[in-house]
Amino acid sequence: MRIATLTSGGDCPGLNAVIRAIVRTSSSEFGSNVVGFEDGWIGLMEDRRVQLYDDERIDRVLRLGGTMLGTGRVHPDILMSSLDRIKENLDDAGIDALIPIGGEGTLKAGKWLADNGVPVVGVPKTIDNDVNATDYTFGFDTAVAVATDAVDRLHTTAESHQRVMIVEVMGRHVGWIALHSGMAGGAHHIVIPEVPFDIEEICKQMERRFQMGEKYGIIVVAEGATPKEGTMTYDEGGVDQFGHQTFTGIGQVIGDEIKRRIGRDVRTTVLGHIQRGGTPTAYDRVLATRYGVQAARAAHRGEFGKIVALKGENIELVDIDDAVSVLKTVPIERYRTAQALFG
Ligand code: F6P
Repeated sequence: MRIATLTSGGDCPGLNAVIRAIVRTSSSEFGSNVVGFEDGWIGLMEDRRVQLYDDERIDRVLRLGGTMLGTGRVHPDILMSSLDRIKENLDDAGIDALIPIGGEGTLKAGKWLADNGVPVVGVPKTIDNDVNATDYTFGFDTAVAVATDAVDRLHTTAESHQRVMIVEVMGRHVGWIALHSGMAGGAHHIVIPEVPFDIEEICKQMERRFQMGEKYGIIVVAEGATPKEGTMTYDEGGVDQFGHQTFTGIGQVIGDEIKRRIGRDVRTTVLGHIQRGGTPTAYDRVLATRYGVQAARAAHRGEFGKIVALKGENIELVDIDDAVSVLKTVPIERYRTAQALFG
């Protein structure tokens, strides 16, 4: 067989580990070779492909963040209008199965291609951990480790200066990174998109800390956090050319408001793409490798229209539909658990 793979959407640590596992498994277990399309769907549409060899070069990428194939975003309308070209390119290259590695948008595109006769097995990735039907996506653990390290570091400088520190982390629609890094880093408050925040309540909580003799406060805020309706005005941002929400810095907004309301010294740190860069954690390398091995095996068995997913301890195949029908948000009970440690 001839397998093709590509990485699409925002990158995350662990993509190279998946590519390596696909190449090595296809070669060693099935004698198949693998090509990679460059820069995501765009490379497939433009037929820009590279041969991937099962040699020492592919082993080296295991530890590297980013993606050796490059990535990109494409508007769904452009992809849909390119179906004939995509099929033609796959036929010309003699591809029997396509393994796209990506988040919600990529998997939606994969589902659409699968529905239109392209043999697809998807691999879920995103630091946001918001893909439904899988317990974890690789990249998330690394992002949480980076964010937790930042929160740890902010404790000491916050205490020295008696400040309130706001840490804004990624998470457009879901607060998994904020929740986990906030819990792991011992933040005094965590703000996630799933639970609109009450600025008055946050201020009271911070002020209470100072009154009780504590010297500082740390608040982790997901970039997609929003205030409770009618509690404060702010610039909500808009959408970009791919239909994704753009943000205007809710961490800074919350920080400014706290300063204004309780008169304490406040600083805001926006972690941004630092969370997505660099070497993957051991957990992400292992999860990504397991996904790659199972995706290659599923492709060779002809189990198309599916993604590999972590269910408890096992990697299973689930319908792409289950993965893209809804976002995996933080359940309120999980937030309530974190809330027990606020203040
Ligand atoms: O979806 C992953 C993600 O890292 C989000 O957390 C973040 O909002 C977005 O991508 C950033 O995208 P870009 O790299 O285009 O700025």
